[in-house]
Amino acid sequence: MAMDGKISIDAAKCTDCGLCAQVCFLNYEKGEDGKVRPKEGLLCCAACGHCAAVCPVGAITHPLLPAGACEPLHEADRPTYEQYMGFLRMRRSRREFKDQPVPREAIAKLLAAANQAPNGLNRHNVHYTVITDRAVLRELSSRVLAGTGKLMALLRNPLGKAFFRFFKPAVYHELQFFLPLMDQLASLKSRDLVCYDAPCAILVHTAEGDLCGPEDAVYAAANIQYAAEALGLGTCVIGFITNPVNADKGLKALVRLPDGHKVHTSLVVGYPQFRYLRAAAKAAPKADYI
Ligand SMILES: Cc1cc2nc3c(=O)[nH]c(=O)nc-3n(C[C@H](O)[C@H](O)[C@H](O)COP(=O)(O)O)c2cc1C
Ligand code: SF4
Ligand code: SF4
Repeated sequence: MAMDGKISIDAAKCTDCGLCAQVCFLNYEKGEDGKVRPKEGLLCCAACGHCAAVCPVGAITHPLLPAGACEPLHEADRPTYEQYMGFLRMRRSRREFKDQPVPREAIAKLLAAANQAPNGLNRHNVHYTVITDRAVLRELSSRVLAGTGKLMALLRNPLGKAFFRFFKPAVYHELQFFLPLMDQLASLKSRDLVCYDAPCAILVHTAEGDLCGPEDAVYAAANIQYAAEALGLGTCVIGFITNPVNADKGLKALVRLPDGHKVHTSLVVGYPQFRYLRAAAKAAPKADYI
């Protein structure tokens, strides 16, 4: 990361404990005199803040870390495993929302939580498109549904079917799963089957070709989901939105996706209509231990 200015260590505070050099051997060193100092010429700084965060005496001034950027942590905030699992179990996909907007402050809190997620090279490349305009949400749902209907019709057409089977066998196989589901959904015309009449959708995207983009986006979105749960909001990942937006210029324009960006995951957010009293049953994790 480009940087003006130098890292400095306040000699009056520093105890030469060496922790900063341990977490960042690229940019700090312990000299033969036992003194810890920043290396000459910054080799590679991701502005991760580990050095300032680990220093027990606050001796480090770093040009990429403004004063107050690294707030103190409190051990009391660490949940037990049981508390954490209890909280994880509370999240479920919500598809029934109150007719109540999500306040801007709550959205800001969701994005602040997203911002805490791990991200490739700490570049913070993830962008969020937050849609709260009901007309846009309705239009998004109806166009996605219409597009999905067309795709399903194509899959039923013998020529279309042959095309997919031959040229896109993996997609063909996946879509077979959706055909009966789509038939059932088509009969439920009165409901918004894409955004579930949610008052807010968040599309999580990065520049197309960003190698870490898909993972960055999904980690960020997961944080949004759990922060929403903590705020009494509910969320649902809407895979039905993601690919159609990427594939359709009209939808990109509708959601004002920046040029060259790709949506990696999409969520709807709103106040759930009711509480779930029991956890969802989950299949056992499929894991190999090597
Ligand atoms: C990649 C992905 C795409 C999804 N797409 C949709 C969707 O389009 N519509 C929907 O209602 N739920 C969607 N979901 C939600 C899943 O159906 C849900 O997470 C799953 O059934 C487990 O339920 P839970 O989230 O309540 O634990 C999606 C989830 C993921 C991870
Ligand atoms: S911010 Fe991170 S990468 Fe930069 S000097 Fe500190 S520990 Fe090293
Ligand atoms: S972590 Fe702080 S006290 Fe320890 S060597 Fe580095 S600057 Fe000095």
